[in-house]
Amino acid sequence: MARRALVTGATAGIGNSFARELAGRGWNLALVARDVERLESVATELRARHGVEVDVIGADLTTEDGLARAVNRVTDTTRPIDLVVNNAGSSLAGWFGTTDIADEDRQLDLLVRAPMHLMDAAIKAMTGRGHGGIINVASVAAFMPRGVYSAHKAWLVNISRWANWQYADAGVTVTAMCPGFVRTEFHQRADMDISGVPRWMWLKADPTVRATLKDFERGKAVSIPSLRYKLLTLIATYAPTPVVARLAKRGR
Ligand SMILES: NC(=O)c1ccc[n+]([C@@H]2O[C@H](COP(=O)([O-])OP(=O)(O)OC[C@H]3O[C@@H](n4cnc5c(N)ncnc54)[C@H](OP(=O)(O)O)[C@@H]3O)[C@@H](O)[C@H]2O)c1
Repeated sequence: MARRALVTGATAGIGNSFARELAGRGWNLALVARDVERLESVATELRARHGVEVDVIGADLTTEDGLARAVNRVTDTTRPIDLVVNNAGSSLAGWFGTTDIADEDRQLDLLVRAPMHLMDAAIKAMTGRGHGGIINVASVAAFMPRGVYSAHKAWLVNISRWANWQYADAGVTVTAMCPGFVRTEFHQRADMDISGVPRWMWLKADPTVRATLKDFERGKAVSIPSLRYKLLTLIATYAPTPVVARLAKRGR
């Protein structure tokens, strides 16, 4: 029987790449995002191109009822979800302490609370069945203190590492994906100035997603796609504190 994945944030960028890659491999899908029209058009294309089933779930994951709709789809036993990709995300352009705290609350809900609820539902359903997987899209920002966004992603990496060990014997793989800069709508949506980011730092979404799926299949807890970001992460982890502090002051 074809496997089924729920992907949040499937209308654009990394989530859209996950949806396309998984559909190409024959996975049925449940796609979540706010823009239902755009989701429907992704679903129509994937059904026609790959002959897979695609459910569309219009949901703002920062709202109680939006999150509940996504969680209910994960706990639905009639068409079980084998893989949850917690990908939906955004950022604010300003530093914490200068931004509106209501916006920060929504960021916390989207980047931490929603993945936590979806992971909880998925782990309970998947351990009961003895198999399943979760990919949490974090960031290399998790490895360096750079404001609230990096703190949220560090939480996601930390919980993924633990859950990977904790639930491996129950047949559930949990992987944190930690990409560097990826060309998507992310920076434009946050109105960020990315003109200073050198070209070599940019990754493409499709190969980044394929690299993480390979790591996930190998049962890895943390996936850092691309050699250049593996090296940068190593440096960020072991560099002296003053160097890390100087880097932390540059950009968000
Ligand atoms: N791009 C990068 O350089 C980069 C680097 C490291 C990590 N990441 C992480 O990768 C993930 C995906 O980002 P991306 O770069 O692909 O961004 P993107 O191109 O802006 O796509 C974001 C996706 O999330 C959805 N989304 C945003 N807010 C939502 C909400 N409140 N409820 C439901 N869905 C929502 C958007 O759809 P709708 O607008 O239709 O809701 C869209 O499908 C994020 O978690 C981000 O932190 C990105």
